[in-house]
Amino acid sequence: MPQYSLTVNGAPRAVDAWDGDMPVLYALRNDLGLHAAKFGCGHGQCGACTVLMDGKATRSCLVKLADAAGRTIVTAEGLGSPEKPHPVQAAFIAEQAAQCGYCTNGMVMTSVALLRANPKPTREQAQAALAGNLCRCGSHDRVLKAVERAARGGST
Ligand code: FES
Ligand code: FES
Repeated sequence: MPQYSLTVNGAPRAVDAWDGDMPVLYALRNDLGLHAAKFGCGHGQCGACTVLMDGKATRSCLVKLADAAGRTIVTAEGLGSPEKPHPVQAAFIAEQAAQCGYCTNGMVMTSVALLRANPKPTREQAQAALAGNLCRCGSHDRVLKAVERAARGGST
């Protein structure tokens, strides 16, 4: 069976798969046991599956496993832990920026990418960055407050 090698959360990982066209989201969840990235739409339209790929917020439902080979992926599990959350994760917790939480992975990962590129975004810039991340629970206002809180707090 073909094997695909990639770096996930700082560690080399290998995934055996017959179908290299399979979304890397499936490999993360089903082969590597990393369940933070969610399957929402499967068509790049909701943002629930967002991970950082080579540092960029990327919809993992749209990336083929074969195309992820040799790349570096960070999932929400690689940002922080329940005991020591990443500053953006801590800001989301502090602002209670989730209801059902299904979109939260994508919101956090997109916010991390935003704040690395622009540590002090305006509310409009944060809105624009997160415009493609859908939340059916209407948590957007608290998500933006979390981004503002993280931006006030320094390094992300
Ligand atoms: S599941 Fe990937 S964008 Fe919706
Ligand atoms: S918190 Fe439920 S979809 Fe966003």
